[in-house]
Amino acid sequence: MNEEFSIRLAREDDIQTLEVLIPLSVRSLQASFYSSAQMEAALGPVFGVDRQLISDGTYFIVERSGHIVGCGGWSRRRAVFGGDRARTQADSSLDPERDPARIRAFFVHPEWARRGIGRSILSACESAICAAGFRDAVLVATLAGEPLYASFGYTVAERYMVPLTESLALPVVRMAKSFNSNDRNA
Ligand SMILES: CC(C)(COP(=O)(O)OP(=O)(O)OC[C@H]1O[C@@H](n2cnc3c(N)ncnc32)[C@H](O)[C@@H]1OP(=O)(O)O)[C@@H](O)C(=O)NCCC(=O)NCCS
Repeated sequence: MNEEFSIRLAREDDIQTLEVLIPLSVRSLQASFYSSAQMEAALGPVFGVDRQLISDGTYFIVERSGHIVGCGGWSRRRAVFGGDRARTQADSSLDPERDPARIRAFFVHPEWARRGIGRSILSACESAICAAGFRDAVLVATLAGEPLYASFGYTVAERYMVPLTESLALPVVRMAKSFNSNDRNA
């Protein structure tokens, strides 16, 4: 990512913009992997803003000329995907000694795809995860997201379907990575 772009933590007042960015990103960058029906059913429950990450200070924003062009984060909580609106109970905390951190909710503006925005957010997440003392990270990738995480050394643990409606499901990939002690001291 070059110096046109800057990264910072997301704030509550970014939420309205994120609620526009996420569907734009999904409908464009996932279109070669999922049907319109799958994307529309997943927007909200699967692809949506998780306010918990913002209030935990674990969600990043990338801006260009004052406009948000990407977002993504990590979590010290149990949920592996999904907007907070679909959640009925509090998302409980993980133990860094025992549990893997979660990588969560990456969305890049389609006009700025393949410029290194996803990579820069993932690097920021990994640094923060290691600083928080976690040894591993897991994530549930879309088929569109899989190459980004693979390029960082995440390996496929399982391919499965997230049920969306009675007749629709979303193929996704559970991926994992272990950090060595050098990463964690970085
Ligand atoms: C997945 C996503 C976040 C990637 O963001 P991005 O900013 O375009 O990714 P980057 O430019 O940082 O890519 C970094 C590396 O990841 C890999 N990569 C990313 N997108 C890829 C694609 N479409 N095809 C192949 N490799 C890809 C490449 O190795 C790339 O490096 P390179 O460009 O030097 O070859 C973006 O495509 C997106 O928002 N998709 C829609 C929403 C979504 O599905 N999010 C994932 C949720 S798990």
